[in-house]
Order: sequence, then C-alpha cells, then structure tokens
Amino acid sequence: MKKLKLFSILSLALALSFTACKDDDTEISYEVDPNSLYSRLGGFEAISAVTDQFLANVAGDAVINARFAATVADPFRLEVLRNNLIDQICEGAGGPCKYKGETMAEAHEGMDITQDEFNALVGDLVAALDQFNVPEQEKNDLLAILGPMQTDIVGK
Ligand code: HEM
Repeated sequence: MKKLKLFSILSLALALSFTACKDDDTEISYEVDPNSLYSRLGGFEAISAVTDQFLANVAGDAVINARFAATVADPFRLEVLRNNLIDQICEGAGGPCKYKGETMAEAHEGMDITQDEFNALVGDLVAALDQFNVPEQEKNDLLAILGPMQTDIVGK
C-alpha cells in the first residue's frame, strides 16, 4: 500500500514535469530580472524588432552595405546573422537567450574592418533604437555592452 502511494506520487511528479516541458512555450516561464536591460528594452519581441530595423539600416548604409552583400543575397545566411544578433543582444542584456555564433574575433577575422565602418554600424544601431524610441539610458546601456567588442572587430 505504502509502495503504491509512493509510486502514485512519483508518477504524478513525472507527469507534471513533462507538462512543464511541453513543446509549445505557453507553460515555460523564465526567471527574468524585471530591472535587467533585457526587460527594460521590452523583451525578446522588442529586441527582434530593433534588430530587423538595424539590419535594414545597415542594408541602406552606403559606407558598409557592400560588406553584407553576400549575406543579404542569401536568405538563410541572413536569417542566421539575424538570429545570432538577436541572441547576442538578448544574452548580453541579461535575457534568457544563448548566443551560439562565433566569437567576435573569429567572426570578423581577416575582414580588416576600419574604425569608420565600425562607427557606421554603431550609427545604424543607434538609428534603429531611435526609430523605436528607446530611451537614452537603455541605448547607452546597450552600447556599453557592444562597444568593448570593437577591439576584436576593428583592424583584424
Ligand atoms: C559591435 C559591433 C558588431 C557586432 C556586435 C557584430 C556582430 C556580429 C555577429 C553576431 C556575427 C555573426 C557571427 C556568426 O555567424 O557566428 C557577425 C558577422 C559578420 N559581421 Fe559583424 N558585428 C559588429 C561589427 C561589424 C562591422 C563594423 C562590420 C563591417 C562593416 C561587420 C561585418 C560582419 C560580416 C560581413 C559578418 C558575416 C556575416 C555572414 O556570416 O554572412 N560586423 N557580426
């Protein structure tokens, strides 16, 4: 009898744990700090929207768009870059994402990117943040995360 009760409790616990891991994300909840930059930016949807605008700005930026010609011409490659950027920003801002791309040094090795090109790309990001009315504080917090990457990107 005791064994049967223990078995029932274990079965119930197992059933509940499977419910929590269902494929549709309705029951998955993440512990996200409401004060994190991720939350203050507006979460995953907002970061995705800013990233799409950022990529559109880059595509229209004559200073650097030639660098991304091959990427833009290949929808799969563009999607990979988009998802990597979203994950990178989301994770850096304290959100529940994991960046799975190359390190910044690996990704930009041999490109010989200039300071002007780096500044142009940052300008395209700032423009995207402005287009979504992201406040000064959040804009600066995000730039403070991405800025230090410059040493792995420029002149490599
Ligand atoms: C803070 C600044 C920057 C960040 C955060 C950044 C981020 C990234 C990321 C996450 C990737 C994808 C890595 C992967 O696929 O594993 C990437 C690739 C790339 N980046 Fe950057 N990047 C920056 C600056 C620049 C600049 C200034 C240029 C050129 C003007 C540039 C050109 C490229 C190119 C051409 C690729 C390859 C895209 C592809 O795989 O098709 N990046 N970058």
